[in-house]
Amino acid sequence: MKSLTSISRREFLRFCAYTAAILGLSEIYIPQIASALEKAAGKPPVIWLEGQDCAGCTISFIGSLSPSAGELILDTISLRYHETVMAASGDVAEKAFEEAVKEGGYILVVEGSIPTADKRFCLIGDEPFSEKVEKAAKNAAAIIAVGACAAFGGIPAAGPTGAKGVADFLGRDDVINISTCPAHTEHIVGTIVYYLLFGEAPELDRKGRPRMFFGNLIHDNCERRGHFDRGEFLTDWNDPNQKDWCLYLKGCKGPFTYADCSIRKWNEGINWCVQCGAGCTGCSQPEFYAGMTPIFEKKEEIAGVNVDTVGKVLGVATAVGIGAHLIGQTAKGRLGKGGPSKGGEK
Ligand code: SF4
Ligand code: F3S
Repeated sequence: MKSLTSISRREFLRFCAYTAAILGLSEIYIPQIASALEKAAGKPPVIWLEGQDCAGCTISFIGSLSPSAGELILDTISLRYHETVMAASGDVAEKAFEEAVKEGGYILVVEGSIPTADKRFCLIGDEPFSEKVEKAAKNAAAIIAVGACAAFGGIPAAGPTGAKGVADFLGRDDVINISTCPAHTEHIVGTIVYYLLFGEAPELDRKGRPRMFFGNLIHDNCERRGHFDRGEFLTDWNDPNQKDWCLYLKGCKGPFTYADCSIRKWNEGINWCVQCGAGCTGCSQPEFYAGMTPIFEKKEEIAGVNVDTVGKVLGVATAVGIGAHLIGQTAKGRLGKGGPSKGGEK
């Protein structure tokens, strides 16, 4: 992996510009970001644990961009333990974990849910994953739950293991939830860099998610929203005339889901669920997975929210573009250019 000392200045500044864009900041903030990252080089340490997961969030994180933002920041923040990407194994790896925990002051990243029906459902080495999370949480400076499983239980919570998210398992309200499936690289990078810049978590909604990324409904910024408001719903996948119509009747959960996929998109802005015709499955919400199924059937109400209410809250003219300003306001607010946004799930 490249580090701040081995990458070129040009590559480093390109990464800072990329990070500024994630945080919605203009180019004038690049020197501040560069300075914060340089000061943070080699610290704080990060412990990344994986429990009941598919490693999709790790893949999402390290497989992005060129030069890889994941690779760069993982090295920048001194990754001390990561089951999937670390070179060490066995006793050597576990010793590194124990030493990092003893030193304390690290960012703890948890990927995957925690079984509570029987702790032997998930073992890391000989140790139950639940005990490893408890041990690591005690001395952590900040805890980030990446992906739907670590945030709220996700797909494993629909099974027999009594799967819980990190905040629920630990009984804590200060866990930062980056809750899509998988976690979005830019949400992870943006949250970590925000923490390095300001020494604290970004403002969270009541589900523990950064408002700057989860402050608006998918539905409010969806390119098919005009069709929803006009009552043009796709009912036949094979009818070319309906190809761009609203996917609500085919199970889209966008009206119940807070995330910025409709603005940020995925894979460096190439596409996102609704654009490619699949509908949103609501993967950023605590109700995902079981509460969002059947995936391809419409739901009129989820967690007390009725789709009729959602449709009436915003007209299409006001809906488009709201989310685009949310991120920048949050970060700029911390840099003394205006107050942080209060958008998001109440
Ligand atoms: Fe877009 Fe889904 Fe809302 Fe339709 S229901 S406008 S496809 S988010
Ligand atoms: Fe998840 Fe819906 Fe975004 S399924 S990835 S929150 S579009």
